[in-house]
Amino acid sequence: MSGDELSADLERALAATREVGESDLENRLRPARLEEFIGQPRVREQLDLVLQGALRRGRPPDHVLLSGPPGLGKTSLAMIIGTELGSAVRITSGPALERAGDLAAMLSNLVEGDVLFIDEIHRMARPAEEMLYLAMEDFRVDIVVGKGPGATSIPLDVAPFTLVGATTRAGSLTGPLRDRFGFTGHMEFYEPSDLELVVARSAQILEVDLQPDGGREIAFRSRGTPRIANRLLRRVRDYAEVRADGRVTREIARAALAVYDVDELGLDRLDRAVLAALVRSFGGGPVGVSTLAVAVGEEPGTVEEVCEPYLVRAGMLARTPRGRVATPAAWRHLGEKPPEPDSRDEPDEQGPPTLFG
Ligand SMILES: Nc1ncnc2c1ncn2[C@@H]1O[C@H](COP(=O)(O)OP(=O)(O)OP(=O)(O)O)[C@@H](O)[C@H]1O
Ligand SMILES: [Mg+2]
Repeated sequence: MSGDELSADLERALAATREVGESDLENRLRPARLEEFIGQPRVREQLDLVLQGALRRGRPPDHVLLSGPPGLGKTSLAMIIGTELGSAVRITSGPALERAGDLAAMLSNLVEGDVLFIDEIHRMARPAEEMLYLAMEDFRVDIVVGKGPGATSIPLDVAPFTLVGATTRAGSLTGPLRDRFGFTGHMEFYEPSDLELVVARSAQILEVDLQPDGGREIAFRSRGTPRIANRLLRRVRDYAEVRADGRVTREIARAALAVYDVDELGLDRLDRAVLAALVRSFGGGPVGVSTLAVAVGEEPGTVEEVCEPYLVRAGMLARTPRGRVATPAAWRHLGEKPPEPDSRDEPDEQGPPTLFG
């Protein structure tokens, strides 16, 4: 796949997790301070130390990388970093930095202490990335003027700033870029109990009459993702207002989520399609992700970045060097009988027996 195709593919993958008009709502529902940020206890504690340390020293903190699946709060945390530091946040994204000049323009406008947020940083063009190395390390860039043997480079100072990078694919970041971040926060899927708090908070902001058992049901079916929790809350509210008295109870939540094809585990239509193809068309795998994507009529990027992380986390799918494999739980979730472990004809892959079989 070419770089451009890959980019377009990822664009769609990320867009698939958002919906039109969602960004205004998202801003309203965004926690503003670290204290308000629910869940992610490790990242929160680590980041708090980084920020407090910097504030004490009165200097910009180290550069921060935030990685994890879509909708877990990377952008929210980037904004929070700015607020906690009392700094302005300048926002751009990897795909917008096509040429080194695009980045040079951003960098030269920074004021000391600013936070520069680069979303989808793994998609930045190579020349821009190389310029960023120097800026991150020495707060300096070399602007190349002219071409060929007559080209000269003009050094330019950059005000000390803090870079906050966000990525859904930490694995596709180059080593040199990754090494220049002083702190990497790995965002994990949220526990249902944390999502319950997210849903309750959003219900309050949106003035939804949410009963605790209704909130629990929504939280449980949100694929560990606050953005999805907020979206399901809005869909359930519609149902409650149109078909009932507006109160979101457990029964109402269940009935509404059935209408929207969200099952008891929170898997949506596409998640189930992926599992069904894997189990029913490919005998449980292993099968390559592109083949799987064709089978469900989706882009490989969507399957890989939107569906798979949660299916892996839910113990339904395993990524192996030979391809994707359905776990027995996946077979059972689809109401199928998993194959006997002994009947799998891959003794060469099993290695020596261990204590745990
Ligand atoms: N810890 C949290 N507490 C409360 N709400 C949260 C939290 N994390 C995320 N949210 C909600 O989820 C929404 C999506 O979060 P955000 O945009 O920060 O995710 P993201 O990781 O940047 O996603 P993407 O990778 O798609 O850019 C936010 O609008 C916010 O309402
Ligand atoms: Mg984001």
